[in-house]
Amino acid sequence: MRKKVTIVGAGNVGATAAHWIAAKELADVVLIDIMEGVPQGKALDLLQAMPIEKRDSHILGTNDYADTANSDIVVITAGIPRKPGMSRDDLLNTNSKIMSDVVGKVTAVSPNCILIIVSNPLDAMAQAAFKQSKFNRERVIGMAGVLDSARFRTFIAEELKVSVENVTAFVLGGHGDTMVPLPRYSTVAGIPITELIPADRLAEIVQRTRDGGAEIVKYLKTGSAYYAPSAAAVEMVEAILKDKKKILPCAAYLQGEYGIEGFYIGVPCKLGSKGLEQIIEIKLTAEEDAALKKSAAAVKELCAVIGV
Ligand code: LAC
Repeated sequence: MRKKVTIVGAGNVGATAAHWIAAKELADVVLIDIMEGVPQGKALDLLQAMPIEKRDSHILGTNDYADTANSDIVVITAGIPRKPGMSRDDLLNTNSKIMSDVVGKVTAVSPNCILIIVSNPLDAMAQAAFKQSKFNRERVIGMAGVLDSARFRTFIAEELKVSVENVTAFVLGGHGDTMVPLPRYSTVAGIPITELIPADRLAEIVQRTRDGGAEIVKYLKTGSAYYAPSAAAVEMVEAILKDKKKILPCAAYLQGEYGIEGFYIGVPCKLGSKGLEQIIEIKLTAEEDAALKKSAAAVKELCAVIGV
């Protein structure tokens, strides 16, 4: 039997995630939204691309949570995106109400699913979903590090004019201004980038990575990025569905790892069929550790505002 992935939110991120999943033939997809007609129209359109793409994924668009029942994975993208000048944190109150409504509805009909949270502000939304679902932490994971690391990898590959396939990079911490790119753990064909890119240039690339989301919002004006965010979420979906045991930076609920207790923050995670199967603890320098703690404090502040 094919796996079933529900995507909540048929906006740009949700619909494009459905596209990547179907294009890779990873699962059948249910696309759900409160907007009537939008998930149905996008799903039908995508379904009609399948004969051309030679893929047998089925895609259903709906407004009814009953159709999402017994999903293996539920990707939550629902919420408003930011506009120019807004930070992800400005979305907090609106999106936390949406998150609470959605998590209640999906978990009622898919009690065994794994939740992948994509809505912003990411770490606080993951925390909200975790608390409300009462799932164990293995089954509630936030997407951000894969995206932030992909942006970092893109800029490194462009800088050195090498294949993106050669570039591995790690961005930890919260998905926001306090994110923590780790040049020391970022490599090109195994060579640390600190050996290849001068420090001042590297600092500029790190800053561009931190501002990566805002750079796109500024261009688009009416919304935020969606190709890379959805591709990042689908890399996590694939790692889980195929039980790949893949190590990816994801937002996970920490219980003392990295000296952080009781909050979601981006750390290296092993993803497999059980969801979050392991948190990998790497040694950080005092400076990196301080940056991660600062990032965690920012997440804690947001969680306090919405009481999660
Ligand atoms: C970004 C938004 C989606 O980083 O958080 O592009």
